[in-house]
Formats: sequence, structure tokens, C-alpha cells
Amino acid sequence: MNTNVVLPITNSFSSRVLSFPWLRICIHVIGLLPLAELIYKYFMHQLTFNPIQFIEQFFGRAALNLLIITLAVTPVITITGRKKLSKHRRTLGLYTFFLFALHFTTFLAFDYGFDLKQIFQLIIQKPFILLGSLAGLMLLSLAATSFKYWMKRLGKTWARLHKMIYVIGGLAVLHYALAVKGSLSTLSGNIVRPLVMSGLVIILLVLRIPPVKKRIISLRKWVLELVLKTSIQSTGK
Ligand code: HEM
Repeated sequence: MNTNVVLPITNSFSSRVLSFPWLRICIHVIGLLPLAELIYKYFMHQLTFNPIQFIEQFFGRAALNLLIITLAVTPVITITGRKKLSKHRRTLGLYTFFLFALHFTTFLAFDYGFDLKQIFQLIIQKPFILLGSLAGLMLLSLAATSFKYWMKRLGKTWARLHKMIYVIGGLAVLHYALAVKGSLSTLSGNIVRPLVMSGLVIILLVLRIPPVKKRIISLRKWVLELVLKTSIQSTGK
């Protein structure tokens, strides 16, 4: 079987789809879209009668969405075998931090007017603020050490530190579930979205477990071989 001839044919579509530079452009668009949407809503007078709460919730949801997209990069690499995609993980992570920073700034500056005493009291009294703050501090440490300098300096510790992204995912969905004030026991309030987000984080975590990862890789190889065989048979006819 001449794999050198057939492999480029089978890979050409996915290479084109997943190659630069348009993917890089897409990622910047995804990262900046929430800010553009909010500016649009501002000019269209769509920020509701409580704009501070609206903006705070809007950036919170946007940060969580992007966090989940960032978490999906590793499973996508496992499924497609495209290691080059890991380059985009850092950009997505930094945009997640950017949106979280906007969420936090709205909370700190506009909601609580930099009243640090009241904020510390909130952290002690409200578990969802404590969980959000822990997730936020971890995000800050990942964003600060995401540069090549720290990657080289920290060595293996860097990789271990950046696995914290999964802990952040767990804390952020818990923060979300508690913030929207729904109740699982009575199935009341807004519980669908937090449940969907939690489900996604769990699936993305499961896909990283080594035996699951191994099975996906062997399944991918099996599919590729099948495609190769079929295309060789059809070209030989
Ligand atoms: C210092 C850290 C954080 C603080 C102080 C904080 C604060 C808050 C507050 C006060 C709310 C409730 C807003 C309201 O309903 O009026 C909220 C909601 C929310 N936060 Fe955070 N947050 C933090 C970190 C995070 C992080 C790291 C994420 C995700 C990456 C996040 C995502 C959300 C989401 C999705 C909501 C619910 C939005 C909705 O009601 O639809 N937050 N946060």
C-alpha cells in the first residue's frame, strides 16, 4: 500500500480546514466577538434597565464559553491528530482571561465601587463569590505564566501548573450554577444552562483520561486505514 501517495489525499481536506492563517483569524474573532456584541447592544440601547448586572452576567457567560472552547483544544487534537492546533490554546486562554477581567472589573468597579471591605465580606459570606475568586486567581496565574520565558524557566512544573485549567473549569461551572440561583432539588430556576456547561466540562475531562485517549487514537488510526484502503481500491479500479 503506497501510503505516501494516498495520505496527502486523505489529509488534504482536514489540512486545509485546520491550517493557518484563517483559523488564527477565526480565533481572534471568537475572542473579540463578545466585546463587539456588547458595544453593539450599548448603541442599540439593549443593556436592559440594570446595565451593570447585564454587563457583569454577559462577560461572565462569555468567559465561561471561551474557557470551555479552550478546554476542548486537547480533545480535538486527540481526535484529529493535529498537534499544530495546540498553538491556538494559549490565544484562546488569554482571551478567556481577558473576558474574565472584564467580568471582574464590572463587579469590582461598577457593582461595588472598589469597596474592598464589602468585597472581602462577600467572599466569606457567599460561596459562589469564593469559587469565582479561586477560579479567577488561577486564571490570572496561568495567563501570567503563559509566556515562553516562564515555560522555559518552570520546565515540567509549567505543564503541571497549566493542568489547573481543568480545576478552573470545575470551579467556574460551580460558580455559574450557584450564581444563577437555580435549584436542582426542586428543578426550579435557571438550571439548564449550568447543567449543560457542567456536562461539557465533564465530557472534556473524560476525553483526557489516558485509557480513553488511547482508544480514541486507535479508533482514529483504524478510520484512517479504512479510508486509505477504500481510496486505494477505488483508484486501482
Ligand atoms: C474574582 C472572580 C469572580 C467574581 C468576583 C465574580 C462575580 C460574579 C457575580 C457577582 C456574579 C453574579 C452577577 C449577577 O447575577 O448579578 C457572577 C456571575 C457569573 N460569573 Fe462570575 N465572578 C468571578 C469569576 C468568574 C469566572 C472565572 C468565570 C468563568 C470563567 C465566571 C463566570 C460567571 C458566570 C457564567 C456567571 C453567571 C452569569 C448569568 O447569570 O448568566 N465568573 N460572577
